Amino acid sequence: MLAILISIIIFALLNSALAASAEQWRGRSIYQIVTDRFALPAGVDINACDPGKQTWCGGTWKTIRDNLDYIQDAGFTAVWISPVNENYDGPRSPYGDAYHGYWSADVSKLNGHFGTAEDLKALSAELHRRNMYLMVDVVINNVMAITTTPDFSNYMFKDQSMYHQYCPIQWGNITSEQRCWLGDEKVPLPDLDTRNPTVIEQYGKWIQNLVEEYGIDGLRIDAAQHVQMDFWPPFCATAGVFCMGEVFGGLEVDEIAQYQGPLGFDSVLNFPMYSALVEAFAIPGPQNITALTHVLAKSKEKFKDTGLLGNFLENHDLPRWHNRTVDPQSLYNAMVLCFLTEGIPIVYYGQEQYFSGSGDPYNREALWTSAYERTDAYNLMSTLNQLRNFLINNTDWLLQETEILTSSPHGIAIKKGDVISVTTNIGSPPQEGTHIAIPSPYEASTATTNILTCQQWVVGARGMLDVEYTKGGVPFILVPTHSLKNSGLCEQISPKTVTARPISATQCSIHLVTILPAISLLALSVAFLF
Ligand SMILES: *[C@@H]1O[C@H](CO)[C@@H](O)[C@H](O)[C@H]1NC(C)=O
Ligand SMILES: *[C@@H]1O[C@H](CO)[C@@H](O)[C@H](O)[C@H]1NC(C)=O
Ligand SMILES: *[C@@H]1O[C@H](CO)[C@@H](O)[C@H](O)[C@H]1NC(C)=O
Ligand SMILES: *[C@@H]1O[C@H](CO)[C@@H](O)[C@H](O)[C@H]1NC(C)=O
Repeated sequence: MLAILISIIIFALLNSALAASAEQWRGRSIYQIVTDRFALPAGVDINACDPGKQTWCGGTWKTIRDNLDYIQDAGFTAVWISPVNENYDGPRSPYGDAYHGYWSADVSKLNGHFGTAEDLKALSAELHRRNMYLMVDVVINNVMAITTTPDFSNYMFKDQSMYHQYCPIQWGNITSEQRCWLGDEKVPLPDLDTRNPTVIEQYGKWIQNLVEEYGIDGLRIDAAQHVQMDFWPPFCATAGVFCMGEVFGGLEVDEIAQYQGPLGFDSVLNFPMYSALVEAFAIPGPQNITALTHVLAKSKEKFKDTGLLGNFLENHDLPRWHNRTVDPQSLYNAMVLCFLTEGIPIVYYGQEQYFSGSGDPYNREALWTSAYERTDAYNLMSTLNQLRNFLINNTDWLLQETEILTSSPHGIAIKKGDVISVTTNIGSPPQEGTHIAIPSPYEASTATTNILTCQQWVVGARGMLDVEYTKGGVPFILVPTHSLKNSGLCEQISPKTVTARPISATQCSIHLVTILPAISLLALSVAFLF
């Protein structure tokens, strides 16, 4: 009896220490943080952070831990933080200080600007207590210096022979992209020789120890295509956790897709989908929905597993969505697709606060200036997470493939499992006469609920659903009402209090007209400010 008890306890301990696999990450949803910019300790001047100054603003692992409610309340189940290892800390470089964590020097030590080993362990433990995962960004390809002939004595790799010789990258030449140095002559990023057996061995020991010591559940891998691909599978196997590689790219699926699978990573960041969402939804922009349908089809064909890709609209290298497009409906519609197609949704901190910085360094705003307000975008991502988490916990939604039900120049309707998402690029202004007719697989008269407004929509003849944009280009998420039982979404509204009214016998749909869509009204009032 005692033996059984002990073995149960040992099993539980082992289990809680077990790092997370791809399968465990599939159902997660990630909030990406620039550690220096997420939260300040009490008593510090909240107006002092100017991203243009490219220096530290004061965020730490402890301040992240103290403010996890903001992330968890929005339904996220994982947090991705900046690289945690010691960075270049010499004289200020022409591009400022290493506040972002990507300027590696000695990866065997932690970055003192972000706290102590105890602080990082406490963050990890607190995330696990909340049933959330910790994803850590790692920089393997390169270190940083302010000369092309650096002294490596303060770096983990001290010997010159462990680095490739300096050469500027010749873009488009894959050998050059892997061997030459990222950065430029002002801030060169010395390139490790990742074929050198000593480098491979030391990196292996380091990552295994880092993951174990700090209870890390997953890695985001910086500049992954700048290292030869065969470096990665053994590296990630040694780490023993889920790996998501950053393979920078555009609409082209083929090049990026080859990095996913047994010869590459569990997952890569979904740059093709990001680029396609910009093509389709940015206002102004090409507003090319075909680009999106192409990428979705091509992705299904080429990627090993679209369900593990990291879907995003922003990150620390790209302009904020709101910098391209001030119309909030553009953001909301694109967000719906990030969460409700295949893939792991990722929200870059501040997206929910409509931050609008252009590229680096203006896209690394201090979150505290927002007062962590529960904005419409915050509420939207909370609702999307709540629906997704509920479906993942209670149904086989994750395993269902996304189908495109219909697309037109101004919108696309997709179905994954029980969820029909209808998105448009027309923006906030109402458009009389613009509508999308969606063939659903549901029987006529099936009650569905738009979870964004809690309005009921009844399926029309031949399974048709009809969405009109007389209130502006809002997204619709329609779920059979019975499937929402126990979800906490729209359950307070009993069908009896809602009146559905047929528009006409020829139109194959029934619209609810008693409640105005709250989101479109709010969005319109925001849009009119610009
Ligand atoms: C590509 O880059 C490598 C490494 O710098 C170089 O040796 C090679 O000549 C380049 N190839 C071409 C076609 O320029
Ligand atoms: C829209 O995207 C498709 C697919 O990428 C492309 O073939 C087409 O030329 C694009 N149309 C416009 C107007 O850019
Ligand atoms: C985009 O960012 C740049 C630099 O931060 C800023 O000057 C510009 O006003 C931004 N555009 C919008 C629409 O916010
Ligand atoms: C899903 O299940 C996990 C683990 O049992 C639980 O912590 C979480 O609250 C559930 N979420 C929802 C939305 O049901």
